[in-house]
Amino acid sequence: MPLIVINSPKGGVGKTTLAAHIAAILAKRGHPVLALDLDTQNSLRLHLGMSIRDEAGYANALDHQPRWQNAVVETPAGVRLLPFGGSEPRRVLEVEMALLNRPDLLTAPVREMLADPAQFVIVDTSPGPSPALTALTPLADLIVVVLLADIASAALIPPILSGQVYGRGTMSARSADRMVVLMNQVDLDAPVSAAVLESARNAFGPRLLGAVCWDNAVAEALVHRRLLTNGTGGAAEDLQLLVDSLTARTRQSAAAPDPDAGAFPALREWGLR
Ligand SMILES: Nc1ncnc2c1ncn2[C@@H]1O[C@H](COP(=O)(O)OP(=O)(O)OP(=O)(O)O)[C@@H](O)[C@H]1O
Ligand SMILES: [Mg+2]
Repeated sequence: MPLIVINSPKGGVGKTTLAAHIAAILAKRGHPVLALDLDTQNSLRLHLGMSIRDEAGYANALDHQPRWQNAVVETPAGVRLLPFGGSEPRRVLEVEMALLNRPDLLTAPVREMLADPAQFVIVDTSPGPSPALTALTPLADLIVVVLLADIASAALIPPILSGQVYGRGTMSARSADRMVVLMNQVDLDAPVSAAVLESARNAFGPRLLGAVCWDNAVAEALVHRRLLTNGTGGAAEDLQLLVDSLTARTRQSAAAPDPDAGAFPALREWGLR
């Protein structure tokens, strides 16, 4: 059931790397996991051990309403994956336009994916706003915003807090509590990096989900087509702690008592709640 969307206003911050690790660690812990690649770069498949020659996709054909069940691939990382698929630029734009006008092309199948209460659905997105992100935001249990512990990312903290990045107003307020921040590539030995982490901690408070240190082993693992799904110290340990936090937060939101339970009888009678 939990839908976890990985996003960032910034590119190259580790979204795909983290999405792959989160999915693979959850799978290794025995959870059923479905990973959904909505980034046109189609690179999540490579992190999960698929061949670069395998260009089959799901999201690149969303406007043709494919059956998602037929597009699922079993990856060597133990994660079931719906790859974006290889696409020409024009095709990418066609899919984006279709999603802008018909978000249900994505939300309807994702609702079916979420029907399995035990299954985690982990979504990798393109950097910045996208029709796919807009469509999925109302359904997401957590939107994990990845930032780097550097000055360029620090500059994004005020516009994230003010709502300039993820939206303002009543609708955005509804999802604000589901937005959490993850600081990646933290280097506590570098004063700037430590200072940016501290600023993020002050700015986001409990919405700071965790931090992953800068670790060459992350890039090395990809070279060897592996993921850091176990091990202590460095990024491997941070990734385990990150998945602990994620599972705790999703359990919390699933178990949170509905303060209005039993109220609004008319809405319940009409099948709206
Ligand atoms: N904790 C880390 N330590 C060291 N290197 C990292 C870490 N996290 C990610 N990287 C490296 O950062 C680079 C960018 O990662 P990745 O492609 O996952 O970013 P992205 O946000 O998905 O990029 P894009 O915006 O293009 O989709 C990769 O080379 C990856 O190996
Ligand atoms: Mg990426």
